Amino acid sequence: MALFGNKNNSSDEVIKVPESLGVIMDGNGRWAKKRMLPRSAGHRAGAENLKELCRNCGNYGVKYLTVYAFSTENWSRPQDEVDQLMKLFVEFFDRYDAELEQEGIRVRFTGDIASLPENIRKVCEEGERRSVNRKKMQLIVAFNYGGRRELVNAVQKISEKVKSGELDISDIDEKLISENMYLPDVPDPDLIIRPSGEMRLSNFLLWESAYSELWISDCLWPDFGFDELTQAFKDYAKRDRRYGGLSKNDKEE
Ligand code: FPP
Repeated sequence: MALFGNKNNSSDEVIKVPESLGVIMDGNGRWAKKRMLPRSAGHRAGAENLKELCRNCGNYGVKYLTVYAFSTENWSRPQDEVDQLMKLFVEFFDRYDAELEQEGIRVRFTGDIASLPENIRKVCEEGERRSVNRKKMQLIVAFNYGGRRELVNAVQKISEKVKSGELDISDIDEKLISENMYLPDVPDPDLIIRPSGEMRLSNFLLWESAYSELWISDCLWPDFGFDELTQAFKDYAKRDRRYGGLSKNDKEE
């Protein structure tokens, strides 16, 4: 985790850059409504802003950026909106992959990818394949993702191994469960940012967020820019992460 005074800001406040960051990209609909635009325009602006977030996070030194793009519950939206989101998803990687490449951003997906329509699955596979050697940052797109579904999937995988005799029930511990999550090599998020004021996780990284710091902003996702990100990292620098223990100062008393 990088800790530094930011030259881009006039104040001397310390900024701490999380190694692993999660972002719930919420508020596209409200952003569009405020401008009397269709919801699809909000999602389009949200996708543009994701590109900016990638650039800013890469420059700050974030190593893993996980963004919530489409949840297992989002299928319940009107078919028209679901179709537009799928279209936007395909367009995003068509249009921006060259820029992601320039920024050294590797793309990965987390979620129930196997259940997605074939054309979307292909975009995911192709995006991962093309970017596998990029080193600066990993962009992990949570697509058809649900934290509960991820846990169900892990329980099923472990149960199969118990059934076949490969594992014993007594082998099941937190480490084993973590190893059976969708992307076990990705560190748990240090910080989760949720724009647009809602104070909930909405089924995002339920297992992985056990000790994540949360940062909520009223800003709607398409308006969430460099200044908000910087503020989140400044506030994160002031957080005392105790993981259920005592802070350093308390231990020394
Ligand atoms: C929540 O806002 C946002 C979504 C359900 C979709 C997020 C998608 C994007 C930012 C763009 C597409 C992503 C990729 C990877 C290209 P909302 O619609 O619930 O907003 P509201 O709460 O204001 O209605």
